[in-house]
Amino acid sequence: MIQVRNVSKSFGSTNVLNELSIDFDKGVTVIMGQSGAGKSTLLRCINGLEKIDGGDIVVDGLSINEKKNVREIREKCSMVFQQFNLFPHLNVLENVTLSPIHVLGIEKKKAQEKAMRFLEMVGLSEKIKSYPSQLSGGQQQRVAIARALIMEPSALLLDEITSALDPEMTSEVLEVIERIAREGTTMLVVTHEVSFARRVADRMVFLENGKVLADQNTEDFFSSNNERIMRFLQKIEFN
Ligand SMILES: Nc1ncnc2c1ncn2[C@@H]1O[C@H](COP(=O)(O)OP(=O)(O)O)[C@@H](O)[C@H]1O
Ligand SMILES: [Mg+2]
Repeated sequence: MIQVRNVSKSFGSTNVLNELSIDFDKGVTVIMGQSGAGKSTLLRCINGLEKIDGGDIVVDGLSINEKKNVREIREKCSMVFQQFNLFPHLNVLENVTLSPIHVLGIEKKKAQEKAMRFLEMVGLSEKIKSYPSQLSGGQQQRVAIARALIMEPSALLLDEITSALDPEMTSEVLEVIERIAREGTTMLVVTHEVSFARRVADRMVFLENGKVLADQNTEDFFSSNNERIMRFLQKIEFN
């Protein structure tokens, strides 16, 4: 579904992705790695938010190196960020229906009906008239998830979406993600939440210095005897 082939990406003299190759198929892949490993850059390149310097990324047969494909790829790979990035002047329903109406050209009433389904899924059907400033961080993040899901992407890209939240809100957001995962949504998830990863990941990827250091099924990863991975897991578990 997503093929990353020999992808390189530098910022100035910082070489962030190093001829990285990896394929993502159906299911949930959790990506871990030290801060600075290139996790966000990888997701941003897949989503077309960063231009790759070399190699190729192919999403559902579309190469990102063809300019005309970038918009479609971005729609296929919907991304959710740590900072929810909701529009403050739009209420919940308006935030979620904005892209379906303006990007997909769906009629307003249809878009609203569809939005209600996804807002229900994330447990926010009571909040449709609220503005982002009237919501908790966890609620705002769930709006952002509904906004990504309504585009019916081939894959959902989640980049540390709970790291700005307190523990209670973190678990409410992770519960929603778990529910969505169980419905068969393909996801690439960057997170440091170990117990969540153990529960939902079909596959674990560990990045280091812009390369794939490990790519394993979840059980094997968490019982890994790779020294780098063991040290990393110890460090985050004691945080
Ligand atoms: N827009 C940017 N400009 C310059 N350097 C960047 C930019 N984005 C990321 N970097 C650098 O690239 C490296 C990898 O960053 P990132 O992909 O955010 O890592 P991670 O998400 O794994 O913590 C870091 O050294 C970071 O400082
Ligand atoms: Mg990051």
